[in-house]
Amino acid sequence: MQNLLETSNKWLITGCAGFIGSNLLETLLKANQQVVGLDNFATGYQRNLDEVQQLVSPQQWANFTFIKGDIRSSADCQQACSGVDYVLHQAALGSVPRSIADPVTSNDTNISGFLNMLLAARDAGVKRFVYAASSSTYGDHPALPKVEDAIGKPLSPYAVTKYVNELYADVFSRSYGFHSIGLRYFNVFGPRQDPNGAYAAVIPKWTAAMIADQSVKINGDGETSRDFCFVDNAVQANIRAALADIEHSEVFNVALGDRTTLNELFAAIAKSLADNGIHYKKTAQYGDFRAGDVRHSQADISKAQRMLGYAPQYRIREGLSLAMPWYIQQHDSLKG
Ligand SMILES: NC(=O)c1ccc[n+]([C@@H]2O[C@H](COP(=O)([O-])OP(=O)(O)OC[C@H]3O[C@@H](n4cnc5c(N)ncnc54)[C@H](O)[C@@H]3O)[C@@H](O)[C@H]2O)c1
Repeated sequence: MQNLLETSNKWLITGCAGFIGSNLLETLLKANQQVVGLDNFATGYQRNLDEVQQLVSPQQWANFTFIKGDIRSSADCQQACSGVDYVLHQAALGSVPRSIADPVTSNDTNISGFLNMLLAARDAGVKRFVYAASSSTYGDHPALPKVEDAIGKPLSPYAVTKYVNELYADVFSRSYGFHSIGLRYFNVFGPRQDPNGAYAAVIPKWTAAMIADQSVKINGDGETSRDFCFVDNAVQANIRAALADIEHSEVFNVALGDRTTLNELFAAIAKSLADNGIHYKKTAQYGDFRAGDVRHSQADISKAQRMLGYAPQYRIREGLSLAMPWYIQQHDSLKG
């Protein structure tokens, strides 16, 4: 990654206090880039920023400017985009169930906030706008693996918001010549992904439960499958997308190109915990299927490989073993 980042540029990361945003921040600061971060702490944490500060040198940390602000405010977006070369727009309200419970707030942040960011980035004349799209855009399309131009109907308000992002990005390309790259993330996981709360993602949620020796509930029969992608792969895709020589708008799948069932995932987390001396003996409990969830998800990543040079470095088990010490330490620090 470092060889891609030899010259110093100014980057804006929206959602920098969140999971993927704080991992982008860590990589860019370690490569001596200038970074502006925008976050309102809706689902992100000061502790994620503090952790990044611990992982970089004081000189690298001095290259970071944080703006506590909201993408629903045009003025905050304009301030954040000022003088920026590359935007990595991650801020959004994630989670399918959250959007089903409160579609209006998801719409405000994920659509109105996205539009504010597109306008601010266009007006600031940034070189490239990269944004977090989502595999949820494939909706009810049955094909596997998922190829970028074959999508179905969205299955949740969240999926609608992420698809609308792509539509706006495309229209900005046609109407204003402002080009952007959408990265359809597939179940990203890794350090600093929030294990707490009703809308936690499956890997941090199960791992935290298993460390605490609590029961794990699988939605459905456990044969639902996902293409789990370690966060460093997603970071690589962002940096390649920002620097790619592409003069039009595009969307790319960002995943591993593999499929893991929930039953396999449960076993893989238990194994990874055992490697760290934590032996989880309980069997998983099975519950109802969850509304809005697709049954299977697996990406075809050949377009990103071909056009971005994307080459994911970590498979799921490697990612789990890299993330596990963080989950264990997180559990210990919250307990103590
Ligand atoms: N994690 C995944 O598997 C996954 C999959 C598909 C898409 N995505 C997308 O990737 C992006 C990052 O997701 P994440 O997993 O890091 O989630 P996250 O919740 O950890 O990070 C999102 C960040 O955005 C911030 N934010 C939310 N609303 C905001 C607002 N109005 N103004 C400013 N900041 C705001 C939050 O405080 C948080 O720090 C999101 O756009 C999400 O929809 C993630």
